[in-house]
Amino acid sequence: MVKVLFICLGNICRSPIAEETFRQQVTEAGLADAIQCDSAGTGNYHIGELPDTRIRKVAQAKGLTLSHRARQLAKADFSDFDYLIAMDANNLLHIENLARQTQSSVDSLPVIRLLRSYTPKETQFEVPDPYYGTMEDFEQTYQIVNTANLHLLAHIRATHQL
Ligand code: 4NP
Repeated sequence: MVKVLFICLGNICRSPIAEETFRQQVTEAGLADAIQCDSAGTGNYHIGELPDTRIRKVAQAKGLTLSHRARQLAKADFSDFDYLIAMDANNLLHIENLARQTQSSVDSLPVIRLLRSYTPKETQFEVPDPYYGTMEDFEQTYQIVNTANLHLLAHIRATHQL
């Protein structure tokens, strides 16, 4: 089983939609038994909350229901997951700092990378934070993560022969 954790700041906008679009792609590829995913936030502001109503609205229009409850990234995630996928550079720094504190207590660290770094010829490596933006920004968040996830999935399939 390959386990992927999508990570943003609040775990109420970008990472829950990344998680659900990835799950849809994995299911459509017939790989639901081989690849699992979840999401988490580096911050603790929204623990227990459903995703932001704006991203839930965008998801609903695509036939996706977001029912994830926000949780904070924990040390256990470094042994539970194979891929920790960050939405932006701040998230990545936070994850890498926590990785350094966790290193001695795990056999090996998971892959820690920016989601958009899997897209060939990509020039923008971050998924911008839509929290203070418009509905258009939230629609764009969906488009960005949906496209980037296709490349992440292709990478995982090639790496793990799935
Ligand atoms: P996310 O968006 O990291 O994509 O879930 C945000 C959600 C909440 C906040 C910032 C970003 N906040 O500052 O509360």
